[in-house]
Amino acid sequence: MKKKLITATALFSLAAMVWAQTNSLSTSVARGEAVYKKECLSCHQADGGGVPHMNPPLAQSTNVLKDKKKIITVVLKGMTDRVALDDEYYSNVMASHSYLTDQQIADVLTYARNSFGNKASAVTAAEVKGVRGGSTVTTVKKNIAPVKKSVAPIKKS
Ligand code: HEC
Repeated sequence: MKKKLITATALFSLAAMVWAQTNSLSTSVARGEAVYKKECLSCHQADGGGVPHMNPPLAQSTNVLKDKKKIITVVLKGMTDRVALDDEYYSNVMASHSYLTDQQIADVLTYARNSFGNKASAVTAAEVKGVRGGSTVTTVKKNIAPVKKSVAPIKKS
């Protein structure tokens, strides 16, 4: 009898843990969707498909799925260099969104990593804080030529 009760309690707490985890992911995704619609949709589009040669897709993007630090940095600092992303070039300029809170950035990136057919772990506010605080300074190798900033500024219509 006691054994049964222990098993039941263990099962219940396991279920609660799983529920809490998926629930926090889905609440973060829901909050992130609101941030995305306001801050990112105009460029990266509702389906995360981006705009060819202007704004990169977030759907099935290698960095979005695999490199949290890089995408946190892009949102914090913006991105103006014309670099290849998944073998394509994009010539628009993404401004810094550092005015968003750590939680908002975590939520919007969690949303991006779990929408448009993407599936990846959540980005946490602590991870954003770490990057914002500069704990992940990347050293530039001297023998790499700098990327030419030949990108024309965005025309605000
Ligand atoms: C003005 C248009 C614009 C807005 C608004 C914008 N982006 Fe971007 N984003 C870009 C462009 C353009 C690039 C690529 C820049 C480059 O190649 O230099 C980019 C790059 C990225 C990348 C890197 C993609 C990769 O594959 O490495 C991520 C992630 C990203 N944006 C997320 C966001 C999020 C999240 C928001 C909203 C908080 C946002 N962007 C708002 C235009 C925009």
